[in-house]
Amino acid sequence: MTADRLGFAVSLARKAGALAQSMRDQAGGLDYTIKAPEDYATDADYAVEALIRQRIAETYPDDGVLGEEEGLKGRVDGCWIVDPIDGTINFSRGMDDWGISIGYFNGTEFELGVIYAPDKDLMASGQIGRGAFVNGKPVTLGQGHPDQTKLISIGYSDRQPMQEYTDRIARIRAAGMDHRRHGAATIGILGVLSGWFDAYYERALNIWDAAAGLAMIKAAGGVVEHGPFDTFLKEPTRVLAHNGRIPEIAQIVDPPHSQAAE
Ligand code: IPD
Ligand code: CA
Ligand code: CA
Repeated sequence: MTADRLGFAVSLARKAGALAQSMRDQAGGLDYTIKAPEDYATDADYAVEALIRQRIAETYPDDGVLGEEEGLKGRVDGCWIVDPIDGTINFSRGMDDWGISIGYFNGTEFELGVIYAPDKDLMASGQIGRGAFVNGKPVTLGQGHPDQTKLISIGYSDRQPMQEYTDRIARIRAAGMDHRRHGAATIGILGVLSGWFDAYYERALNIWDAAAGLAMIKAAGGVVEHGPFDTFLKEPTRVLAHNGRIPEIAQIVDPPHSQAAE
């Protein structure tokens, strides 16, 4: 058994990313499973999650795993939280905005996380107390020039009303900022770590989309907000991750919930 869960997760994410790319690029392409209207998984989503579960079981047999495709198996207070492919639609259409997300929850906090974006050749990793890194370079949040336009990355799914989403964009614009949407929460959070964005926000985000990224943002000295863990482990909650440069960001993206910080 290895004690270095972060190193293990980095190496595992690389293997997972290579598997996803090879399945996408194989002759005959990907197979699809329709999960719900406008929500599908490819055979690569299932294969990558199976690979990650197998390697965790071999290396940390006492740890639990909560994955998007197969749910929770084992304990929660010492649990890997995995999105095998985040941004499946982008991935399946040949875009590069997708990532492998592997986080670890120790029962009290998101302790460490890795987001690997294989087509972008970006590996973000971080652990509370050890800082965060993108391709080995330490992350220093909030270093942009004061005159730069502030950029807020936001997510959208049909778990939230469209009007609320468009109102949010209007408030961001009214505050003199701009927004981006990449169709992959991991890419939005990776963007905060990389200095592309000042914040990532999504009104109803699942824990497997966020756990790894939130661990890294916190490890890098940024600010994270989400619903209470006992709720978040079961259902989507609001998620805000930011670099601390915009004190009023919670009010701008989500006024009614701005006091619900965790
Ligand atoms: C989705 C993406 C999307 C976000 C959704 C997620 P998936 O994950 O991260 O950007 O807005 O909330 O469900 O289905 O591609 O793994
Ligand atoms: Ca996802
Ligand atoms: Ca997914």
